[in-house]
Amino acid sequence: MKLSNCHNYNDFRKLAKKKLPSPIFHYIDGGSDDESTLNRNTDSFNDYDLVPNVLAGVSNIDMSTTVLGEKIDFPLFPAATAMHRLYHHEGERASAKAVEKVGTIFGLSTMSTVSIEEISTINKGPKLFQLYIHKDRGLTDNLLERCKKAGFTSMCLTVDTVVAGNRERDRRTGFTTPPKLTLGSLLSFALHPGWTINHLIHEKFKLANIIHMTQKGTSIDKSVIDYINEQFDSAMNWKDAEYCVKKWNGPFALKGVMSVEDAKKAIDIGCTAIMISNHGGRQLDGSRAPLDQLSEIVDAVGGKIEVILDGGVRRGTHVLKALCLGAKACSFGKGYLFALAAGGQKGVEKILENMKTEINRDMKLMGCKNVGELNRSKLIHRK
Ligand code: LAC
Repeated sequence: MKLSNCHNYNDFRKLAKKKLPSPIFHYIDGGSDDESTLNRNTDSFNDYDLVPNVLAGVSNIDMSTTVLGEKIDFPLFPAATAMHRLYHHEGERASAKAVEKVGTIFGLSTMSTVSIEEISTINKGPKLFQLYIHKDRGLTDNLLERCKKAGFTSMCLTVDTVVAGNRERDRRTGFTTPPKLTLGSLLSFALHPGWTINHLIHEKFKLANIIHMTQKGTSIDKSVIDYINEQFDSAMNWKDAEYCVKKWNGPFALKGVMSVEDAKKAIDIGCTAIMISNHGGRQLDGSRAPLDQLSEIVDAVGGKIEVILDGGVRRGTHVLKALCLGAKACSFGKGYLFALAAGGQKGVEKILENMKTEINRDMKLMGCKNVGELNRSKLIHRK
């Protein structure tokens, strides 16, 4: 299997599985509890059928949209995800460069392995920073201020991770950051010498944005579950979110909103956008899939806030279905992380180009010349 043969999510996943030691592969691939929400996230798209119109004159179409104050070339962007250095030795440098090339928003996590400041020199396009509120509240101000100075264009506060989901695959594999060689995982590292050699000869793994505050997760190995439970502040509330919105004073998204009630509160505290998300099925198992919940929220907010759908997106048609139901754009995580593991910057470019090509082809097949023409008349819920 080669990168040139990766045509879809499953191909990238397969190649990533070949390249990554199993604790790392399963950290990306897994969800919480029985993974029912993880699976539903993608399955939900099959409950909707697209209804195309023909003879629409679609030789030239416009896929662009404006989200979080930025015009992007097509309505999809990679969700901010943690610790890219685990998947490829260039870490977020590779993904940030790839994303700028394809013309969409790059998302950088609080738990990234390349710093805010370095990313701003690498990627001159729109950049979103994904904020986790730590118990050390000084860190929140520090991150917000550094992102402003570094020219990040939007802020996104993740609100669905006050405690870690029950990720049993990580418990089974003994996954830690930095990766720890244990008797159990030794074989898996030995069986993936390419990854292991690259990991050893390149820059050391570090949580680059928070290393000045804690060594945990950087030189003291930690399971991500323990890190979240020890460091993230489960006391955070709407007042804290409002504080961040005001302090940031720019395009701001709340990520992990799933209820109509919370969507309305997000409007009240001045958010620009909500990301309907269950954290890729990694947090509350048994919670509703974003697509299942989308139209209810879109109807309730009545255009007062941008709605972004995050979760389960694997195909261009998935993006089209979400847009038909009223999403402004979609984001996805697992797909581009597998692509990063499969081929570094080239891998991320390839999966994003694949998705862009799919969206282009699918819009033409739907008879839609621009994203505004994707609406509820173009899709039916299969009863
Ligand atoms: C995760 C966190 C770190 O899902 O975002 O693992």
